Amino acid sequence: MQEIQERFVGLVREKIDNKNLKYNILTMGCQLNENDSEKISGMLEKMSFAETDNFEEADLIIFNTCCVRENAEEKLFGKIGEIKKLKEKKNVILAIGGCMMQEEIMLDKIKKSYPFVDIIFGTHTMQNLPENIYKAIIKQEKVRDILDIDGEIYEGIPIKRNSKFKASVTIMYGCNNFCSYCIVPYVRGRERSRSPKKILEEIKKLSADGYKEITLLGQNVNSYVGDEEIKNFADLLREVCKIDGIERVGFISPHPKDFTEDVIEEIKNNDKITRIIHLPIQSGNSKVLKEMNRKYTKEQYLELVEKMKKRIPNIVFSTDIIVGFPGETDEEFEDTLDVVRKVNFEQIFMFIYSKREGTVAEKREDQIPEEVKHTRFDKLKELYESRVDENNEKYIGTTQKRVLIEGESKNNQDTFSGRTNTNKVVIFEKTEKSKIGDVVDIKITEAHKWYLKGEII
Ligand code: SAH
Ligand code: SF4
Ligand code: F3S
Repeated sequence: MQEIQERFVGLVREKIDNKNLKYNILTMGCQLNENDSEKISGMLEKMSFAETDNFEEADLIIFNTCCVRENAEEKLFGKIGEIKKLKEKKNVILAIGGCMMQEEIMLDKIKKSYPFVDIIFGTHTMQNLPENIYKAIIKQEKVRDILDIDGEIYEGIPIKRNSKFKASVTIMYGCNNFCSYCIVPYVRGRERSRSPKKILEEIKKLSADGYKEITLLGQNVNSYVGDEEIKNFADLLREVCKIDGIERVGFISPHPKDFTEDVIEEIKNNDKITRIIHLPIQSGNSKVLKEMNRKYTKEQYLELVEKMKKRIPNIVFSTDIIVGFPGETDEEFEDTLDVVRKVNFEQIFMFIYSKREGTVAEKREDQIPEEVKHTRFDKLKELYESRVDENNEKYIGTTQKRVLIEGESKNNQDTFSGRTNTNKVVIFEKTEKSKIGDVVDIKITEAHKWYLKGEII
């Protein structure tokens, strides 16, 4: 397979090498989607395209779509409209890929209403992009390359990273959980884990290239399945942390139902692992959780958090919450607020429930009116924001270990900006020895709403 990809990379490069062609890519989804975009960029640059952030200047435009919530559709149609106008003025290839193209209705709509789209590809066919670009540019064909069955794991795609020090590494694809509101299992297929060998090879290479921070990605990382030696997620974490040069290791997202003892033990024993755990709760009410098919109760979630707080000093949590799931009553929503008060999340990603075609929850007749969903959303946001100051003040006087220096701070060239291992932005004075990409310990001196201040110790 890889040879085929390389052959088409070569064929395209031969034709366009001295033409200075540019590409522009718009990533609309989650970190997995972003990681895919890094691979798309990697393939394009091998073919000799150069990146531009101005789409009007581009010869090839790629939309990497997401369909987890409905509002993405309007956004995509708006963007396609802009490119249609651009196409009237100049010769530009438009390729649309990603999760939304795996949805039959969306695929049909694009095919019928926007026939000028040059390439359509899905989540299982991204690796064919060089061949598809060859067909579109050289043969001027319209390409529709979608696979309904799960693709095999395709290793060896070149990758152009967005950062020099932080890298995301996908460890598994797909999802088997079928939460009743969620479309991801339908568009990403069943769970497939990458081989531990390939993952570790990739990270060793990253370390050799100067990368310091790794985020392991998957829809449910703690259901990772390895091989005889590195059997599960805990084993993988341990091996990743052993790699010299890698100073910080994070992962998103674990599922509360699969958060096993051995993973907790690994976090406890290994201070390379970030001290913020993203633990999506979705709702704080056990009845709603059951209807969401999440497979844990409010009490089980709180027990897990308490257990981790007791065993791992300074650990904090972030989460995802959906408000207005079908049938959710005001009292049930109060349970979500109760959990937010109890856990004291460092960060909350809040979403208004959005109906997704083909999911179980979509068929329910007890959908919540828009204004009720919005009122609940505002209440949750208010509660979260009311706690930010107090949470930040707790940092004053503490020493934050392994802060990665990410760059100069925007407003002051004498200071650096980095993130604590709980993902808080921290600003501190430069010292003679410190440089971008270093990992340092910082004593926190001030807390502001969206950042902390400190000094290198
Ligand atoms: N696999 C991850 C989440 C992937 S999707 C996990 O289970 O944690 C990211 C987030 O989008 C979800 O956690 C959920 O909060 C939100 N989400 C998914 N489907 C949604 C829908 N139909 N409406 C609103 N939010 C949704
Ligand atoms: Fe969606 Fe649930 Fe799978 Fe996360 S675990 S991707 S929310 S089905
Ligand atoms: Fe991610 Fe959106 Fe697909 S959240 S997996 S890009 S549907």
